[in-house]
Amino acid sequence: MPHIPDNTLDQILDRCDIVEIISGYIPLKRAGRNYKALCPFHHEKTPSFVVNPDKGIFHCFGCGAGGNAFSFVMKYERLEFPEVARMLAKKAGVILPEYTAEDSGKSNSLLTGIYKAHELATAYFQSALVSPQGREANEYLAKRGVKGETTSRFKLGFATDSWDGLLTYLKKRGCGEEIIEKSGLIIPKSDGSGYYDRFRKRLIFPIFDHKDRAIAFGGRVMDDTLPKYMNSPETPIYNKSRTLFGLNFTKKHINEKDSAVIVEGYMDLIVPYQSGVNNLIASCGTALTQDHIRLIRRHSRNIIMVYDSDKAGEMATLRNLDILLTEEMNVKIAELPKGYDPDSFVRKNGGAAFEKILAKPTGLFDYKLNRLISYHKADTIESKVKIAGEMMVTISKVKNDVLRSAYIKRLAESLSLDENSLRTELAKPKKDYSGAYNGNEQAVLTKAAPGDLSIADKTVIGLMVEDNTLIPIVKEKLSHTEFGNALAQEIAGSIFKLHEEQKPINYVSLINCLSINGVDNLLSEIAAMQENFTDKKRNLEDCIRWIKKSNIKKSLNEIRNRIKKAQEAGEHDKVTDLVVRYNQLMKESAHY
Ligand code: CTP
Ligand code: MN
Repeated sequence: MPHIPDNTLDQILDRCDIVEIISGYIPLKRAGRNYKALCPFHHEKTPSFVVNPDKGIFHCFGCGAGGNAFSFVMKYERLEFPEVARMLAKKAGVILPEYTAEDSGKSNSLLTGIYKAHELATAYFQSALVSPQGREANEYLAKRGVKGETTSRFKLGFATDSWDGLLTYLKKRGCGEEIIEKSGLIIPKSDGSGYYDRFRKRLIFPIFDHKDRAIAFGGRVMDDTLPKYMNSPETPIYNKSRTLFGLNFTKKHINEKDSAVIVEGYMDLIVPYQSGVNNLIASCGTALTQDHIRLIRRHSRNIIMVYDSDKAGEMATLRNLDILLTEEMNVKIAELPKGYDPDSFVRKNGGAAFEKILAKPTGLFDYKLNRLISYHKADTIESKVKIAGEMMVTISKVKNDVLRSAYIKRLAESLSLDENSLRTELAKPKKDYSGAYNGNEQAVLTKAAPGDLSIADKTVIGLMVEDNTLIPIVKEKLSHTEFGNALAQEIAGSIFKLHEEQKPINYVSLINCLSINGVDNLLSEIAAMQENFTDKKRNLEDCIRWIKKSNIKKSLNEIRNRIKKAQEAGEHDKVTDLVVRYNQLMKESAHY
C-alpha cells in the first residue's frame, strides 16, 4: 500500500467531523461542549466515553481507549490504517492519487459489483415471492407462522426452479458473469458451457452485514429434499466466521437488554423475533469463532445460549463454549424441553413462555458439570477423573482468579475429589487447550493507556499542544528525555521537532504522525483532562518544576543505592565520587 502524504491525511481529518463519524457507529449524547456515549470498546453501564469536537478526539475514561477519527474507525471496524484512510477520504471527498492505480480501482469495482449483485438478487428473490410462482413458498411461510410483516422486515424471498432466472436478471442489469460467479450466486456447469443458478426452488433468507447490505443467502427447501439448506459460499464480501445472521436487525435490542441470546437457525431467530423476543443472533450451523464473539461483545458481554435438548449433550458443542470464557463473556445456557427448538417452542407456547425460560438460564460451569456427570455417571474414580479433566479445560479459560478458584472448589466438592490435587493439576504447564480455535489475536481491546505517567507530564504536553507558543518555554527547561515514560518522551520529542520545522501541532496531527501503539490513547487522555487554566504559564512552570524535582529525586535514590554498594565493596574512590555527585544534585534540587 503506497504511503499517504501527511498533508493529505490532515486534509482528510480537517474535512471529517469526528462527531458525525462516531455517531455513524454509536449513539452520541450532547454534554456541554462534548458528546458522551457508552464506550464501544469495553462493557459499561454509565457512559465514560467522551468525544470532543473542538479537539477532534475521543477518549474513554473507563478503558483508556482514545484517539482521533482514524483511530476510532480502526478500532471499531478492526481495519488497518490505509483502509480507514481510504474510507474517510472518500467520505471527505479527498482524492488519494495512489488508489486510482489500475489494480486497486479494479478490486474496488469488484467489491462494488458483488454488493450490487447481492442487492439486485435480494430484490429478485423478493419479487418472485410475491409473484404467482411464489404461491407455494407463501403457503409454506404461512404454515410455519411467519407473518407478512416479518417476511418484509427480513426481506425473505423465493428462488424459482428456473436454471438461469437470476443469471439472466442480473446480466440484464449490467452485472458481468465474472462478478456474478464471484458472488457465489451461480455455479459453472461441469461441461464448461456456462453457468446455472445456485439457488433454485428454495425459500431465501438474505444475510446482511452491519450496514444492512445483503452479503450472502441461505436457501431452504420446502419439502424433505436434501440438503435442507443451501448457503452462499465464502466470497470477497462474505466471511462466515465474521458474520452472524440477524445481528443487523437485533443489535439495538441486544444493546438495550444488555444480553444476547444465541440460537441456531434462521427460523429460530425470525419466529421468536416476531413474538417480541428480539435480542437474538443465529450462528447458522457454524461453530462460534473469536471474531463472532467480538462482534457480539460490542453490544453485550452477557450471552445466553439456547440449545435444542437433543444437541445439548454433545461435547463438541460444549467445548465450543469455552471460547466465550476466553473472551471474558458471561455465558449462560437455557434449555428447551426435549424435541423443541426456539422456533417450534415459540410457535407452540408463545414468546412469553420463551422469555420465561431465558430468564432462568444455568451458568456454563454448572451446566457443563451436570451434563458430564449425567453422561459419565461419576461413580468410579476413572469417570471422575475424566469429568474433572474436561472441566479443567473450561476452568483454565476463566481469567478471573477468584472465580477460577471458586470453580475448583465446587468441582472438588461435587466429585468428592481432593481440591489441592485439582489445583496442582491446573498449575501444571497446560496442554494446548486452545488448539481447536483458530481465532486471530487482536490489539483493539488492549488497555494501552500507560498508568505510570504523572499529571505534571501530561499537563506539560497538553499545554504545549493547546498553546504552541508555550513550546519554546518548555524546550528551554526540559529535554524530551526528562519526561516520565517512553511514550511521553516520544511525544515531547516530536512536538519539539515539529515546532522547529514550524509545522502546526495539535492532538489530531500528532496522533497521525506518531503511529506508535498507545500514543492515541495517551494523547486523547491528555486532551480530555485539560482544564481551562487561568494562568497557563504559571501552571506550566509548576509542572516543569515538579518534573525536574522528581527526576532529581529518582537520581538521588539511585546514587544512594550505588554508594551503599560501593561502601560494601570497599571501593572508597568510587564512594567519594558518588558523594560529590550526590551533594551537587542536592544543591540543584534546592532550586526547584
Ligand atoms: N444449516 C445449514 N445447512 C444444513 C443444515 C442446517 O446451513 N444442511 C444451518 C441453517 O442455518 C439452519 C441451522 O443450521 O438454520 C440449524 O439447522 P437445523 O436445526 O437442522 O434447522 P432449523 O434451523 O431448525 O430449520 P427448520 O426449522 O427450517 O427445519
Ligand atoms: Mn427448526
